[in-house]
Amino acid sequence: MAISPRQAPAGVQIVPSLLSADLARLGACLDAAREAGVQWVSVDVMDGHFVPNISFGPDLIRLIRRRPGLFVDAHLMVSNPEVSAPFFIEAGADMVVVHYEACRNPRAALRSLRRAGVLAGMAVKPRTPVSRLLPLLADMDLALVMTVEPGFAGAKFLGPMMSKVRALRRAIDAAGFPCRLQVDGGISADTVAAAASAGADSLVAGTAVFGAKDLGAAFKSLKRTAEISFVRRKRRA
Ligand code: DX5
Repeated sequence: MAISPRQAPAGVQIVPSLLSADLARLGACLDAAREAGVQWVSVDVMDGHFVPNISFGPDLIRLIRRRPGLFVDAHLMVSNPEVSAPFFIEAGADMVVVHYEACRNPRAALRSLRRAGVLAGMAVKPRTPVSRLLPLLADMDLALVMTVEPGFAGAKFLGPMMSKVRALRRAIDAAGFPCRLQVDGGISADTVAAAASAGADSLVAGTAVFGAKDLGAAFKSLKRTAEISFVRRKRRA
């Protein structure tokens, strides 16, 4: 019998990306993050084929799991994610996010993740229209709009992606789906308000958190701005 997956932490979330963490001090980074109030981290998995960079395997999830209390999503920027996903599920990911562009059958890929007992997410690259995700929303627990061309930390935020975020927010709210709406790439003090105002309730930040002099202060400031911006959006909606 499939285990029931852990739910993603409620409320507007700033999700530090391990791509920007100092892996030589991973334990200390995770402890500092949890101390600051981080509830959800993202592991950017890159295969050097779907995206140019190569990053982590399932063992990083196992290392993170040694510190309880964190919700972990594995963002698979890989070709043939159906082949890789089971290894990240077995390693302890709470959620697996696959790319629409990498799936032969996106709906089947999402349903397979849920059958395996994890939350299922689907991401779109900047050039992929958000219309590809709209018919799949009932089958996903998270929709991810990439706000950079995926592959590396520190890339420039793509403002035009906010129209995709707004369209997804409208569709999710109109249908009443419990689907989270995540953005990833270039989220910083300069861009977090725009992303949350557009309707993102989960915002992945690597450089802006793990690259900050004071991780805790940076995280708390981003979270506060995102929460205020998200609520203001709802009042305007
Ligand atoms: C894809 C990766 C990055 C990373 C965030 O390139 O998914 O977007 O998580 O990196 P920052 O926050 O440094 O842009």
